[in-house]
Amino acid sequence: MDAVESVARAAVAEAGTRLRAAWREHKVISFKGPVDLVTETDREVEALVIGHLRRAFPAHQIVAEETASDQPDNQQPTWYLDPLDGTTNFAHGYPHFAVSLAFAEGGELRFGIVHDPVRDETFVAHRGGGASLNGAPISVSPVSDLNQALLGTGFPYDRRERTDYYLAFIRRFLQHSQDVRRAGSAALDLCHVACGRFEGFWEWKLRPWDTAAGVLIVREAGGVVTDFTGNPFSLRGEQTLASNGHVHGAMVEVLTAVLGQGRG
Ligand code: IPD
Ligand code: CA
Ligand code: CA
Repeated sequence: MDAVESVARAAVAEAGTRLRAAWREHKVISFKGPVDLVTETDREVEALVIGHLRRAFPAHQIVAEETASDQPDNQQPTWYLDPLDGTTNFAHGYPHFAVSLAFAEGGELRFGIVHDPVRDETFVAHRGGGASLNGAPISVSPVSDLNQALLGTGFPYDRRERTDYYLAFIRRFLQHSQDVRRAGSAALDLCHVACGRFEGFWEWKLRPWDTAAGVLIVREAGGVVTDFTGNPFSLRGEQTLASNGHVHGAMVEVLTAVLGQGRG
């Protein structure tokens, strides 16, 4: 295990212990926007993980959700941290959230780890080295018919302003898949594609800390990640489409049909 992995594992394990201890407690909540919550635990866990990273790698950049950062230089060694992905679930005591941490170098994702403290599941991927769940290799599902696919999605934080537009995607997928879930943690949605629980996942307007680790985990498990039209995925883009690869073309067809109806 290299230094990146050992430091990341230690940081994420400590974060998980803190999240597991706190999720049933009373939460101190504040609002970043009308539907965008943050709890004291988000900030506390972020500081804890950043402390681990800074002590081990003082020269690395850290792009973390709750800490304002300058425009990162993509060529520098960079960490992407979401200390608590699924804050709304956590704030309501709904047991589905995770800590997500990824490392990129030379503009390429090299390592990703997502830890679900409630299920005690840790998803890990190394670029070119495959993906694992609690140490056992994982791979995407073999299902190739979209009609038999279980899909995940999420709604962005402007969902009150653009409700009908986002619902148009759900409507179309309800007609073409087995069913659709909105569980509330994009990092876990991606990991659930990687280990074959979901065949596919799409979401608008995710941020680099939501996706960096999960995208590498999906790819290393044999899946595919692009934008909604099948073009290359960008960490700073607006569209995330991840799948087992087999239903990717059919998902792109659905998404482009809805995109073609215009922005409602
Ligand atoms: C959110 C979750 C959610 C997704 C939102 C994200 P947060 O992250 O991943 O599933 O639908 O778009 O912002 O705010 O809980 O870290
Ligand atoms: Ca998040
Ligand atoms: Ca978060």
